Amino acid sequence: MNATSNPSSDHQIFDSLRLELRRGCLIVAVLAQLRVEHYGYTLRKALAEQGLAIEESTLYPLLRRLEKAARAAAKAAYAPYSKFFVGAAVLSGSGRIYSGCNVENASYGLCQCAERTALFTAVASGERSIRAVAIFTPTAEASGPCGACRQALSEFGPEALVISTCNSSRRLESTVAALLPASFGLRNLRKARGAKRRRR
Ligand code: THU
Repeated sequence: MNATSNPSSDHQIFDSLRLELRRGCLIVAVLAQLRVEHYGYTLRKALAEQGLAIEESTLYPLLRRLEKAARAAAKAAYAPYSKFFVGAAVLSGSGRIYSGCNVENASYGLCQCAERTALFTAVASGERSIRAVAIFTPTAEASGPCGACRQALSEFGPEALVISTCNSSRRLESTVAALLPASFGLRNLRKARGAKRRRR
């Protein structure tokens, strides 16, 4: 074998490496674009319903951050009984992100879901509306929010986007309104109060 290098074949190797690298970057860029487009439809519809004038170029990175916050929050989950670890993060009306995890208790009925931990943290910080919620479970399937959490989320973000992710590429994208049709809310109480007043 020849120990001295051949400059022309070295150049060829570098050229082909450079080409491969460029091809790799192109594939990554195309995949990223596909992911954004996949995000796009539900998102655009939800945004239109919320009447939100937020640029997609601002929102997409924000939603990625929201997903990351939910994933990070799952690490703090206290779930010694179910061993079902959940992290959640809400994007508030002010654009801030609040996260939370599930917190279980030996008195099982006191178990608190991750979505409500994140939501209540936002509300306790003065927020009164949410635009989106991300949920993460370190499982193979993505999980939607439970019924109680759908109701709690509906109070502050009836049109909010719901994104569930997990350890695989499976994900759920929906809205609170779609997950909780014919929901019960403040307007029902107002209607009942109005009817009572009319009866008097
Ligand atoms: N859990 C959540 O954190 N969010 C949901 O939407 C569903 C369930 C938690 C509660 C409990 O700690 C564990 O998952 C098993 O139900």
